[in-house]
Amino acid sequence: MTSTYVYSNSTPHAVTHHRNLAAVWDPATRRVLSASGVTLSGASCLEVGAGAGSIASFLASQVGPRGRVVATDTDPLPIAHHNQLRVLPPHDITVADVPDPPYDLIHARLLLMHLPRRREVLRKLADALHPGGVLVVEDMDMTWRHGRVLRAPSIGDRSLFEFFHDALANVFLTQEADTTWASKAAQAMTQYGLVDVQAEMWTRSWRGGEAGCQLVAGTIVQLHDKLMRAGMQDCDLARVRELMRDPKMMIRMPPLVSTLGYRS
Ligand SMILES: C[S@@+](CC[C@H](N)C(=O)[O-])C[C@H]1O[C@@H](n2cnc3c(N)ncnc32)[C@H](O)[C@@H]1O
Repeated sequence: MTSTYVYSNSTPHAVTHHRNLAAVWDPATRRVLSASGVTLSGASCLEVGAGAGSIASFLASQVGPRGRVVATDTDPLPIAHHNQLRVLPPHDITVADVPDPPYDLIHARLLLMHLPRRREVLRKLADALHPGGVLVVEDMDMTWRHGRVLRAPSIGDRSLFEFFHDALANVFLTQEADTTWASKAAQAMTQYGLVDVQAEMWTRSWRGGEAGCQLVAGTIVQLHDKLMRAGMQDCDLARVRELMRDPKMMIRMPPLVSTLGYRS
């Protein structure tokens, strides 16, 4: 099956992109995972779409000598060795079985929104939980367009960034992502038999030069041609990148929605 996933881990920019993802989202994810109610010490954990593995490594540091963490990705980046962590060779969760079930905790961040068969995947993951285990899926709610720009050097720059937001959402849609999926995960978890389903979301402001803006600038580098096809001009993309370095600019990332459901 040909992947429609919008980014590539094989480009020279991928490592920086994943470092920025971790800088922006890991504090929220670590908090959610630590507060999930599942005791991490001794737990079996699966990290799907692990990327560069910052969260897989975090889980490995939490599970102790009796726990285990499995990390999967279609195109895994190098992840630091840890005795409790096993990184699988390339594994496509849309076609392959969930490896080595069952798990106490399964986590997938910024993955399901990008997968055309996300509901099937969610069902597979839900079925791979131990009784009492938790599935945590986290995706950006891209419908949050207004309020993305908190401060801009000019009205034109504000409009330009909003236009960029729309173009990026269109690129995602063209690649079969669902930019509204973050608000649908709770319904799907309930449908597939998970209980105590709950969701929370998190975002914060980032000034030009800070990690959130570096993430946006890196996205432009990675998706430049696709953004052009979505209606952006070269000079506009250059201006957005400039703004992402300008401390007078302040943006908010689309919120990360963390949805949790438990196997009864
Ligand atoms: C946006 S990145 C997020 C990485 C990491 N979860 C994070 O939040 O930092 C999505 C990751 O999912 C991986 N991926 C895409 N399609 C996949 C699939 N079908 N099965 C497993 N992983 C996939 C990509 O290779 C990429 O590393």
